[in-house]
Amino acid sequence: MTLPKINPTTTESWKLLENSSKEEDIKALFESNFKRAEDFSISFQDFHLDFSKNMISKNVMGLLLNLAEECHLKKAIQSQFDGLEINETEGRKVLHTAIRSFENSTHNYNQILEDRKKLKDFTQKVLSGELKGSTGKTFTDIVNIGIGGSDLGPVMVVEALKFYKSSLNVHFISNVDGDHVNEVIKTLNPETTLFIVVSKTFTTQETLSNANTVKKWFSKKVGSENIKNHFAAVSTNLSAIEDFGINPEFVFPMYDYVGGRFSLWSTVGLSICLAIGYENFENLLKGAHKMDNHFKNEPFEKNIPVVLALLSIWYNNFHGSETHAVVPYSEYLKYLPSYLQQAIMESNGKSVDRNGKKVSYQTGNIIWGSTGTNSQHAFFQLIHQGTKLIPCDFIGFKKSLFQNEDHHNKLLSNFIGQTEALLNGKSREEVINESKNSSDEKITPFKIFNGNKPTNTILINKLTPESIGKLISMYEHKIFVEGIIWNIFSYDQWGVELGKKMAKSLLHEIESGSIKEHDSSTKSILKKLK
Ligand code: F6P
Repeated sequence: MTLPKINPTTTESWKLLENSSKEEDIKALFESNFKRAEDFSISFQDFHLDFSKNMISKNVMGLLLNLAEECHLKKAIQSQFDGLEINETEGRKVLHTAIRSFENSTHNYNQILEDRKKLKDFTQKVLSGELKGSTGKTFTDIVNIGIGGSDLGPVMVVEALKFYKSSLNVHFISNVDGDHVNEVIKTLNPETTLFIVVSKTFTTQETLSNANTVKKWFSKKVGSENIKNHFAAVSTNLSAIEDFGINPEFVFPMYDYVGGRFSLWSTVGLSICLAIGYENFENLLKGAHKMDNHFKNEPFEKNIPVVLALLSIWYNNFHGSETHAVVPYSEYLKYLPSYLQQAIMESNGKSVDRNGKKVSYQTGNIIWGSTGTNSQHAFFQLIHQGTKLIPCDFIGFKKSLFQNEDHHNKLLSNFIGQTEALLNGKSREEVINESKNSSDEKITPFKIFNGNKPTNTILINKLTPESIGKLISMYEHKIFVEGIIWNIFSYDQWGVELGKKMAKSLLHEIESGSIKEHDSSTKSILKKLK
């Protein structure tokens, strides 16, 4: 057996958690323990997690930690790092941690080093101008053509590390929406553009359609004989790449033991390498590797991904929270929420447990968010005064990259101010004391904030390739811990297959105009397309 198959609701800790108070008053918890911030914080290198502003007593934290033990989390972590086939439904190992490892004992290490060397050499050749386009011009633009895990990781990291940008401009084409493709290519000079087709399977409709459209456009402008100088590919499906006509020297292999949504550390990161240079890419991997070791070695109570996962389970399974917001106080991290949507929701959006039985409890939560302070002027109203309990991760950096202290102090004061306001709220007395005259009384109820809204504060010294590597790895391990405790398989994604199949057969009906049997709604919409 590769992973434990324990129904968490049958554990002693789950039952005790069910009977624990859900009415924890965070303010009262602070009042009863003047060391609370210290007791409920973890520092790891340049990372500091403060989880004291949560509805969580020492007793509940202890029960959650016991739950992890009872679900054999330690053994599961070991199984993942040891390369057992923990992705049982696809018969695969799960080794995204190996491709960012710097340890000789790592599974397939020679191959990993060889692939890194290939990424490094290629990146250096493009950046130095040694590798040129077919008309002898230096490359100025890179276009990554991929979707899902072959897009969201690179797009998020390239944006996050824009400060460390190389001379190349990197663009992304993902959606099969033809307007999207045309909007990207209309600005490009094909003679100075390198296209990277990224698809683990090389069968994905969106990516192949986009790649073919771009290939046609390129051939018309520069000639099909020049494709070999302008197209690279990343995939496990080497024969399909060959059929597409890509120069074998520009082919970067991937392996089935790395899931698409966990693949930015692999050759899928080619666009990241080109965007920020290989050295920065390697620092990204090093950061992730450091977090891997923290996750693997630290006791659960001092283990950032484990604690974050347990808190999430506390709200998801014992408070009925359905969603979790991620709010980075950095515009550089604007794509982090959408990246995490795939990573978390594709992994843990499952309702059948590892024994093949339907679960009787909640699993994967809904992830959403946006950057602060913008989101304060968009959805924070609902978090402060709405009816839903929404735990939030606040992510911030001590230092700004351009050292603009004036702005950064304002940003940080909002970052901290929001978590304090969510905790404390504003009482009726406070509202009345602030009122200038008695006619304000009518609006008093609308100005009351209940507070007691849970937040995690993740404070990082500085936004660097290494700290971004740590941050992503932290969330990846959080996903794993949740999946283990929920007793689900986090590394397959059968749920996206049905829609893909349906789109294929509907495409035929749309193109031919001959509509088959459907429900009346589908049929009438199809008819309206005619
Ligand atoms: O959305 C489903 C999915 O299979 C993802 O898991 C994957 O990241 C994406 O499609 C793209 O797949 P590929 O890299 O094979 O084109």
